[in-house]
Amino acid sequence: MKPVIALTKGRLEKQFLKFFAELGFEVDPLLEKGRKLQIETSEFSFFFAKGVDVTTYVENGIADIGIVGGDILIEHQPDVYNLFPLPFGHCRMALATKANYQWPEQKKRIASTFTNITKNYFKDKGESVDIIKLEGSVELAPILGLADAIVDIVETGTTLKENGLVIEDEFISFSARLIANRSSLKIKRDQLVPVIERFKEGAKKA
Ligand code: PRP
Repeated sequence: MKPVIALTKGRLEKQFLKFFAELGFEVDPLLEKGRKLQIETSEFSFFFAKGVDVTTYVENGIADIGIVGGDILIEHQPDVYNLFPLPFGHCRMALATKANYQWPEQKKRIASTFTNITKNYFKDKGESVDIIKLEGSVELAPILGLADAIVDIVETGTTLKENGLVIEDEFISFSARLIANRSSLKIKRDQLVPVIERFKEGAKKA
């Protein structure tokens, strides 16, 4: 059976495909996938999922390896081998709010998809805050008055800028990571190690 790779859909997917093509792997079936969620190449079976679901599939051995943002690994701490950073998907985790915002005297309200990261960030500062979980477009929360600030990933900074938000603090830098299922790495060692090594060489060169 071919190795199974779970790939995070969206921005990381595009950057991964460029990296994968540069390593000399076959990418044409992946570039032509349309709305299909599973694609076979001559060497691999691929499927595409949201980042957090990539970790679930890898943790449960449905995928042997996965490509996922470092933010997801820090937030969810899945039981997988967190192998090494890949040379794309570089982002920072930031606390951001409206420009010239007057922070309230009372407990702050912080909106985020990353509730564990947010909790730990404020715990380290010795500050108690109310955390509001959102699933996306978190930049809306301070603008609409749902929260005082957000904790979110920043890549180019464009989303913050175009929505009138500014960074108050940046506190974690990360990139995409290669992860692997713990049993797969033992059972399919001969198949997976050469692939992982090629990824590692490519990551070093970049
Ligand atoms: C992420 C993140 C920011 C944006 C940052 O959202 O939540 O909104 O990217 O990128 P930038 O600094 O390059 O503008 P994503 O596009 O993944 O969608 P989401 O808001 O639905 O989570």
